[in-house]
Amino acid sequence: MDMFVVRGGRPLRGRVTVSGAKNAALPIMAAALAANGTTVLHGVPDLVDVTTLSQVLRSLGMFVERRPDNSLALTAVDEQRCLADYELVRRMRASVCVLGPLLGRRGRACVSLPGGCNIGHRPIDLHLKGLRALGAQITIDRGYVFARADRLIGTDIYLGGSFGSTVTGTCNVLCAAVFAEGVTTISAAACEPEVVDLGRYLNAMGARIEGLGTPLLRIEGVHSLAAVEHTVIPDRIEAATLLIAATMAGGRLQVDNVDAQHLAAVIDVLRMVGVGIEIRDRTVIVTAPDRIRSLDITALPYPGIPTDVQAQLTALLSTAEGISVVTDKVFPDRFMHIPELMRMGANVRREGASSIISGVKTLSGACVMASDLRASAALLLAALAADGESVIRRVYHLDRGYERLEQKLNQVGADITRVADLPETMPNSLQLSEAEQQPLAVDASDVPPPKFLSKGEFDRYRTPQ
Ligand code: EPZ
Repeated sequence: MDMFVVRGGRPLRGRVTVSGAKNAALPIMAAALAANGTTVLHGVPDLVDVTTLSQVLRSLGMFVERRPDNSLALTAVDEQRCLADYELVRRMRASVCVLGPLLGRRGRACVSLPGGCNIGHRPIDLHLKGLRALGAQITIDRGYVFARADRLIGTDIYLGGSFGSTVTGTCNVLCAAVFAEGVTTISAAACEPEVVDLGRYLNAMGARIEGLGTPLLRIEGVHSLAAVEHTVIPDRIEAATLLIAATMAGGRLQVDNVDAQHLAAVIDVLRMVGVGIEIRDRTVIVTAPDRIRSLDITALPYPGIPTDVQAQLTALLSTAEGISVVTDKVFPDRFMHIPELMRMGANVRREGASSIISGVKTLSGACVMASDLRASAALLLAALAADGESVIRRVYHLDRGYERLEQKLNQVGADITRVADLPETMPNSLQLSEAEQQPLAVDASDVPPPKFLSKGEFDRYRTPQ
């Protein structure tokens, strides 16, 4: 397990390039299950979550190969396998994205319930509501979702929940609806750019989806989808993280491969707190002010401020002049970063789904512990700005969702050293072995059946009835 040693107070100057979007790549990789032929994806970032999903797809009979040109090739070679095992799904809840494509293409799926994580309760009731509406028979037993659908029939589905739309829920229902007989409408659909990217990939394969990027999707079912090549959109969350990093560390940073439209809410916040932002086509140039102003912000579904940038903005506002209030309407408990920021001198008080931040002029270096992907990013940004040295432990959280982030930051002036952490009794299942992190070629036959299913039960999910 690694940790970062960060020497703060060094301004960032130069150029960095944003990688492909993790949250677009993952549902698109899952949707490749539904394709006839070999899908070739460009711009898929080299992340632990991508490796984990590749393993899940391997266990579902997919051949997954990282080619020399860095593209990812995915081909279904054994469509009898329909079980996504707990041991893999629990490492990354987005594995649940295989549910829709499996049902649409193979008519059955057995997927482990994803379980919770450090950012709060993460049910999949809306996913299952949408799939049931299309005609799937779904039962939940022993921590698994058992789903079957001999036929999917188009219908009208309302997919809104008490926290608004669901991103991966929209992805799952979309991937099933493209095969449903007749017309399906999904209202209260997620409008995130990553969902739009999935929809464009499906349409390129022959699906008929209208309304992408709006809360109302209309899908006309088709019989099959032909595999295509697709380039994943840039990662707007990484872009936002880099813009905030430069704002906190000081200096002037040019961030390339950005779709500024996807970042409108974040750019608006940065401008409102006094940051210099210049947009040139697919490049954003950020110039840090001496000190930012305070601001009240609320994380909302797209096009609002992304909840995935809330922790980073909380770190930024902890150094603002004045009092700021940060509210997260998507994940009201997503504040694991607050106690660690306070170890660095931040002055923050939790009030329900909000945090009240009284800005301090300077943060101080400290030893802190990452708890989840975006909290670890927030701690790294704070360490860049802090006076003195910080140690950030459990950076495996960061490796799940950022591609070579410390190299990118060090190239523009940061001083981040990755070192092996003290041995800690962390369940090794959270760490992938060297072999597990290698690009994967399929040999689906070597995936053992899950422990709790008898051979007969397991075979029921392998061979058509
Ligand atoms: C996606 O998660 C992203 N992950 C998350 O990014 C992101 O934070 C989230 O969307 C919100 O934008 C991927 O795309 C892989 P949701 P998802 O379903 O789809 C509730 C990161 O850091 N809800 O949109 O799981 C849910 O509890 C990750 O990259 C239900 O109530 O999130 C939450 O409050 C973290 N029932 C809200 O909706 C459901 O069936 C939004 O969740 C589903 C969700």
